[in-house]
Amino acid sequence: MRIAVAGAGYVGLVTAACFAELGNDVTCVDIDEEKISKLNNGVIPIYEPGLDHLVAKNRKSSNLKFTTDLKSAIKESEIIFICVGTPPKETGEADLSHVENVARAIAEAMDSYKVIVEKSTVPVETGNKVAKSIKAYNTHKVDFDVVSNPEFLREGSAVGDFMHPDRIVIGCESEKAKEIMKKLYEPLNAPILFTDIKSAEIIKHASNSFLATKISFINAIANICELAGADVEKVAEGMGLDKRIGKSFLNAGIGYGGFCFPKDAEAFIKIAEKLGYDFRLLKATQEINNFQKKNFVRKVEKALWIVKNKTIGILGLAFKPNTDDMRFAPSVDIISELQKEGAKIKAYDPEAAEKAKHILNGIEYCKDAYEAAKGADALVILTEWEEFKNLDLNKIKSLMRHPLIIDGRNIYNPEEPKSLGFSYISIGRSDA
Ligand code: UDX
Repeated sequence: MRIAVAGAGYVGLVTAACFAELGNDVTCVDIDEEKISKLNNGVIPIYEPGLDHLVAKNRKSSNLKFTTDLKSAIKESEIIFICVGTPPKETGEADLSHVENVARAIAEAMDSYKVIVEKSTVPVETGNKVAKSIKAYNTHKVDFDVVSNPEFLREGSAVGDFMHPDRIVIGCESEKAKEIMKKLYEPLNAPILFTDIKSAEIIKHASNSFLATKISFINAIANICELAGADVEKVAEGMGLDKRIGKSFLNAGIGYGGFCFPKDAEAFIKIAEKLGYDFRLLKATQEINNFQKKNFVRKVEKALWIVKNKTIGILGLAFKPNTDDMRFAPSVDIISELQKEGAKIKAYDPEAAEKAKHILNGIEYCKDAYEAAKGADALVILTEWEEFKNLDLNKIKSLMRHPLIIDGRNIYNPEEPKSLGFSYISIGRSDA
């Protein structure tokens, strides 16, 4: 099938590369000339495992092209995916101006039937607004259908998530478009749920908000465990064995971050408010998430007594492992707070240092975990990268000024660092 993907961000790039890999003829379009020129020279602007390989392979076989020419891409395609950004406005609502720009461009350029697929995360009713906008600017008066097909990709495993999804949600109100979408996704052999457009839009918001709430729930439990002297890891295990609850997304820590959960929760609260519902549960989810970061800073303060002029080695900056994404990373708030109190920060992240340099100033960036530990009064773990789980802790101890680990992701069994002579503080466990 001939597909155009508008937007070469996370969602757009992964969508374009994966549909090309499935044998489609895909053109990925972006207005950012520099980005497109990089992509045409084989440079992937984001770190996403497996994506570079897919892009290279499919560019070579000509299944995947990159261009800034949206008009030609629209004319040549049967299906057009809208994957442009919907950044938060100051009010917390999603800014839909990029979506509207693409919708108008599609309306003005299309000269034959098109399926227009909304994949960006948008408020409920955007699908209908896109349809209205296209109808209003439909220069050649051609038939079209608008479909909502929310994405559930996780950064760091986006290619795997695309190729092996738990489910595909398609909000669609036309039989013709339904058949086309079915054919497009058939090779993935995954369950497809067809709904109306508004329900598909809400499924995306509800899923992300539910997962964010699950994280805040276990973080609240972690705080109770600390007060009661219990172990949140065991509590989560015990809860997770109940199939109705499930064990995933019950990892207590320093709170969720990234470009999806914080922004989507905020947007969903606004959407509900506009519709006339006060979504207090989701507001509490946000509150707990903010508290979790502040509470972690308090832990560091308590352990160091005086933060001023102390050297803190930070392990991990990205909002989660296997990504270089720093957007809304809890590390940003935590490090800024410690800097305000006069701490000297040395940090190491396997992938995110370059992006962190644009956000966090006054940090000494290190080449590995050992360099970050050298001369440190405390080692603070903020992202659970696999390599941190296998560090030579004896070596770390010999390099540090004071053997103190404050682990925001519970990556160690407390017995291990303690037996080596570390003071070890973590989340929701008796050592906390
Ligand atoms: C999320 C959704 O999972 C995905 O379906 C959606 O399409 C986009 O948003 P992503 O933001 O890539 O994906 O990351 P995810 O793996 O879900 O983690 C989000 C945040 O929650 C991270 O900061 C992570 O550290 C935190 N988290 C996750 C926890 O603190 N505890 C957990 O148990 C799980």
